[in-house]
Amino acid sequence: MRILIVGNGGREHALLWKLRQDAPAALFFATRPNGGMLPWVEPVDIAPTDIEALARWVVARSVDLVVVGPEAPLAAGLTDRFRGKGIPVFGPTSAAARIEASKAFAKKLMARAGVPTAPFQVFRDFEAAKAYIRQRGAPLVVKASGLAAGKGVVVSDSVDEAVEAARAMLVEGRFGEAGKEVVVEDCLRGEELSVFAVTDGKNVLLMLPSQDHKRVGEGDTGPNTGGMGAYAPVSLATPALMERVKREILVPTLRALESEGSPFQGLLYAGLMLTADGPQVVEFNCRFGDPETQAVLPLLESSLLEPLATVAQGGSLAGMQLRWKPQAAVTVVLAARGYPGEYEVGQPVTIPAWVQEDSGTLVFHAGTRLTSEGLVTAGGRVLAVTGVAGTLSEAVRRSLLAADAIHFPGKYFRTDIGWRELARDERDRP
Ligand code: AMP
Ligand code: GLY
Repeated sequence: MRILIVGNGGREHALLWKLRQDAPAALFFATRPNGGMLPWVEPVDIAPTDIEALARWVVARSVDLVVVGPEAPLAAGLTDRFRGKGIPVFGPTSAAARIEASKAFAKKLMARAGVPTAPFQVFRDFEAAKAYIRQRGAPLVVKASGLAAGKGVVVSDSVDEAVEAARAMLVEGRFGEAGKEVVVEDCLRGEELSVFAVTDGKNVLLMLPSQDHKRVGEGDTGPNTGGMGAYAPVSLATPALMERVKREILVPTLRALESEGSPFQGLLYAGLMLTADGPQVVEFNCRFGDPETQAVLPLLESSLLEPLATVAQGGSLAGMQLRWKPQAAVTVVLAARGYPGEYEVGQPVTIPAWVQEDSGTLVFHAGTRLTSEGLVTAGGRVLAVTGVAGTLSEAVRRSLLAADAIHFPGKYFRTDIGWRELARDERDRP
């Protein structure tokens, strides 16, 4: 079997790691692989969004399965183009990927389907947005509708700040095209939860719930990042709550997409707020989350390849089940000095052998490059270190031990990943 992984971050390294276990004899390819993926794949020097070149390459190399990590190639129509050539792709069509690529589309779809989400309005005109913000009152959230690499969201405690955010997007063109349309929505209160669902468009296989840590600083302070760490599972997300998420959120969303002509096949990621009134959708993504994937996949006991290949080939997930290890996983992101602002690259990275060999520790590469001089940094998020153990506190201990032992100039990381869950553990202890 020949499998191409599109993308080269920590999420894609984790996908590769799991798929290699499921198919040890398969031949793997990856677009511009990072230093951790490189030893296990044949590199393909084509950008993920260069869909035509990638399609030609995939046909020439008789690839059997394409697994897409990032949202951009999906939104740009990779799946549509590849399916047209008979190539099985795990990932939705561009029409279905609008669930992430257009927040306005996602919100209107949820409203039509009766899926719980914050009250909202969509604007292209600044004066109209301003009037709504004034009338609605703070706190409010202003979002660029299009893809803005997680940076297009402003949570405002004052009306003035919300108006300024809308002005920056609609008048000054911050975020370019992505900000020409904005969603203004009410602020939700509660804990956030990431729910991954593998879906053939109708049937849903829920993955273990996880929690991301988006802020740069300890205690969830400071600016937003792509994610500084994650853990799974989350005890707040009881089996009953997950059933409710499936029934009230995932299934109605998939039904609406299908009935409107854009069935979603792939990984539907629901970013939820667990409010006093129940789970509400903050956002949908059309792909696996990063860094949650690096915490969730190490806990998956059963095959990932089987459901992914089934969906990619247009098959049904009916009757299929995922099995999970009764363990906890914590992923700590090692970032480069300056991230999420400007950061330096090309710094030498050393990972002690014992870290690689410890069966309870996994090192997923994100922004690294393997050069003739060895491993160097090549991104803001450099590595994602996952500890796996019988308890969350032991998983935390393992990930931090490894995070400490790995070196590169300018390395920094959060030492409090999983703090909410640990606090719950403390409270629940007799
Ligand atoms: P998004 O890209 O839509 O997930 O938003 C990024 C982050 O902004 C989320 O992870 C939340 O922390 C925050 N956020 C987004 N929408 C809301 C909301 N309606 N209420 C409170 N926080 C929000
Ligand atoms: N962890 C957030 C995301 O992948 O969008």
